[in-house]
Amino acid sequence: VTTHDAPLGVAVIGVGYWGPNLVRNFTSSDRFRLRWVSDVDEARARKAVGPYSTVRTTATLADVLTDPGVDAVAVATPAATHVDLASAALDAGKHVLIEKPIASTYREAEHLVHLANARGLTLMCDHTYCYTPAVLKIRELVHTGQLGDIQYVDSIRINLGLVQPDVDVLWDLAPHDLSILYFILPNGVVPQAVAAHGADPIGAGRACIAYLTVELSGGAIAHAHVNWLSPTKIRTTIIGGSKRTLVWDDLRPSERIQVYDRGVDLTDPNMIAGDERREALISYRAGDMVAPALKESEALAGVVTEFADAITQQRAPLTDGRSGLRVLDVLEAASRSLEYRGAVVPLRTQR
Ligand SMILES: NC(=O)c1ccc[n+]([C@@H]2O[C@H](COP(=O)([O-])OP(=O)(O)OC[C@H]3O[C@@H](n4cnc5c(N)ncnc54)[C@H](O)[C@@H]3O)[C@@H](O)[C@H]2O)c1
Repeated sequence: VTTHDAPLGVAVIGVGYWGPNLVRNFTSSDRFRLRWVSDVDEARARKAVGPYSTVRTTATLADVLTDPGVDAVAVATPAATHVDLASAALDAGKHVLIEKPIASTYREAEHLVHLANARGLTLMCDHTYCYTPAVLKIRELVHTGQLGDIQYVDSIRINLGLVQPDVDVLWDLAPHDLSILYFILPNGVVPQAVAAHGADPIGAGRACIAYLTVELSGGAIAHAHVNWLSPTKIRTTIIGGSKRTLVWDDLRPSERIQVYDRGVDLTDPNMIAGDERREALISYRAGDMVAPALKESEALAGVVTEFADAITQQRAPLTDGRSGLRVLDVLEAASRSLEYRGAVVPLRTQR
């Protein structure tokens, strides 16, 4: 199967804030032909395609699903509607790309994963961050062993954020950190349990600040700090490895990623005579820092290409339904942990 295949017919469902970005990227991709844009508010659909477009618009999902020219559907509606829209599309034999979060509960997400599997259709979750040049580079550096064994992942995602009416700060912001975490971790390192603390100092009725700890197999740890109340915006992740440590500052376009050949080494105690002091075991490395060059490309264009490749090559996409499911597993466990003020809650999916 090659890129010379006929373009896939695609429809976008839901064109509020995010959907128009999908419309734009499907339109400019030669792998797809956009056939429909659908929204319960049809005026929005018409606005999204513009006055001179031949792309059809409708407020009725059945128009889209009964069109045999539609091979795939992209769902960009609010999370609570994902399971019904995506199930209907899969039942109609369409491949599905869903915005994050893939569904509003783990059970719903599990249903979608099973349904796609049973029908042999592609189910992909738009974890957009995973397709940024920075995250793709981080994944490559981790997977090729250039950081060594992963010891910790520490991310901060804070700003003066919109207090959401329906979800707390963990459900709003942590999905980004979690989808990235699963995307970059090497195969042997698996999230096992989580603990979360949160606070609502302004009386919003839900946590506006949260600290999420994820225990990883092999003794490593990941932590995400998410906050709607911070006057300054920080988007930084540190990935500590036994060989090198990577710092990703997404707000520094010229040097988003820095790789430090600096860290702390511990000599194997068996290599040292018994009467030497413990301090002798620890040594510090102070090597160079390099900032790898990153190409500029729009993440969503990568999402659209990956969706086409997964469909035509009949393989799982990089961010498949299971990756959406794993994020919901952590979020639900984190919510339980919040209720019990930081209790450690094991995860259901251990990869
Ligand atoms: N990948 C990203 O970085 C990113 C960024 C923003 C939002 N999102 C996700 O995109 C999704 C949509 O978010 P948004 O901010 O665009 O929401 P929105 O409320 O701005 O837009 C949703 C649109 O869906 C329409 N809609 C609602 N129910 C529908 C139905 N049953 N059938 C057809 N249309 C329906 C609404 O009329 C509206 O136009 C959410 O899952 C959100 O998490 C992803």
